[in-house]
Amino acid sequence: MPHQNTIAVILAAGKGTRMHSDKPKVLQNLLGETMLGLVAHAASSVAAQVLTVVGHGQDLVRKAHPGLAEGFVLQERQLGTGHALQMAWERVRASGASHCLVLNGDTPLVTPEAVEDLLATAQTGQDLVFLSARLPDAGAFGRVLRGPDGEVLGIVEAKDYDPERHGPDSGEVNTGLFCLSVDAIENYLFALTDANRAGELYITDLVALCVEAGLSVHALRREDAGSLLGINSPLELAQAEQSLRADIVARLLASGCLIHQPESVVVGPFAVVEPGAELTGPCRILGASTIARGARVEAFCQLTDAVLEPGAWVREFSHLESARLATGAIAGPYARLRPGAELMEGARVGNFVEMKKSVLGPGAKASHLTYLGDADIGARANIGAGTITCNYDGTNKHKTEIGAGAFIGSNTALVAPVRVGQGAVVGAGSVITKDVPDGALGIARGRQSNLPGHGKKP
Ligand code: UD1
Ligand code: CA
Repeated sequence: MPHQNTIAVILAAGKGTRMHSDKPKVLQNLLGETMLGLVAHAASSVAAQVLTVVGHGQDLVRKAHPGLAEGFVLQERQLGTGHALQMAWERVRASGASHCLVLNGDTPLVTPEAVEDLLATAQTGQDLVFLSARLPDAGAFGRVLRGPDGEVLGIVEAKDYDPERHGPDSGEVNTGLFCLSVDAIENYLFALTDANRAGELYITDLVALCVEAGLSVHALRREDAGSLLGINSPLELAQAEQSLRADIVARLLASGCLIHQPESVVVGPFAVVEPGAELTGPCRILGASTIARGARVEAFCQLTDAVLEPGAWVREFSHLESARLATGAIAGPYARLRPGAELMEGARVGNFVEMKKSVLGPGAKASHLTYLGDADIGARANIGAGTITCNYDGTNKHKTEIGAGAFIGSNTALVAPVRVGQGAVVGAGSVITKDVPDGALGIARGRQSNLPGHGKKP
């Protein structure tokens, strides 16, 4: 449960120059989720309110995260992480929270547990707590300075770090995750200066300011915190994605999912795969997909926000997006189910069938080469090869209704809006522009004539 007295601020206004991408860095994704989405998930698991400081590419960030909209704060010029927090401070104050968590938007592997730990430490009466890690190579991260008794003295950014002045490098670095007592640190936040190599207001300088003022400051060192560090390059992004992927797959295997070729299976952090579900790699299960017990996904499939009920089966090379398969339904090989496609119990779609905003009733079948858009298809109907619902007239979309037990002959065009009744039959090759009543045979095609002697010699 999120803590009512806690607010979180995510710093997400930077450009991310080292990614070499036009996209704002926090929109780069891992396993189908943006870095910002992952950080926001950790933040909102712990804090009742979440603010996000945006700036560079803010329109794109806003568009990608409508769920965070209420908490956006603009930092027009990116004058540093300390300045970013200053921009959000009025709203932090107004929230009435006693504790403020600060998270960097480029630390997608941050976990709710790590954030919770930090908050718990702060609640023991500390004014400023931050999470540190020890690395074999401290690289470009901020160095934690400690005194003779191990007490924290401050953080020095890599650019400003000078062994002669600051002592030998201990390899302890700042992860960028802070928890601040709102009342205690306010004065010091606005006392930051840009007297450093980058000419920025660093949130990290807050540490030394608070130490000098006699506030209680603590660095919570976690041995596994290396993964919580920020991502600054494509290589680091790929490594983080790979490690998150491996962790998720290992967790699913341990919980009892059947996974073939686990090294090539990708499951997004928000997808649910129940014990007893079966996946074969390579495949990707992304977004808020749910794969129930006994459901199967074969190789070369991608599912995004898809739901497979118990015993549903997605065969090779199929793509599903916001689609649902009920118990015993089968899709593929080579099926494409777009948003709003729904297969009810035991329904089947075969190869090269595309569905969009369409429901296939219980036991209905569309086995080959078909487009079903804006269509409602009754139980046990049979949709022949090459059936096309002509749902778009160039301006508007229209519905096609096909009754229970109807039979649509191959290569039929159903020009919507149109209804084919229950138990009706449509002759192969028809262009159906008028409703076909229940139980009737509808046929709409040129008649065949055979002209003797007009063929060629055998
Ligand atoms: C920061 C820390 C460093 C730490 C590292 C951990 C500072 C000064 N340094 O360095 O000690 O080891 O994270 O990953 O804080 N941002 C803004 N507005 C700005 C500048 C940055 O919102 O004006 C955001 C960025 O979008 C990013 C986050 O703050 O999400 C961190 O900024 P970044 O430039 O990546 O800081 P680092 O140099 O990695
Ligand atoms: Ca960073």
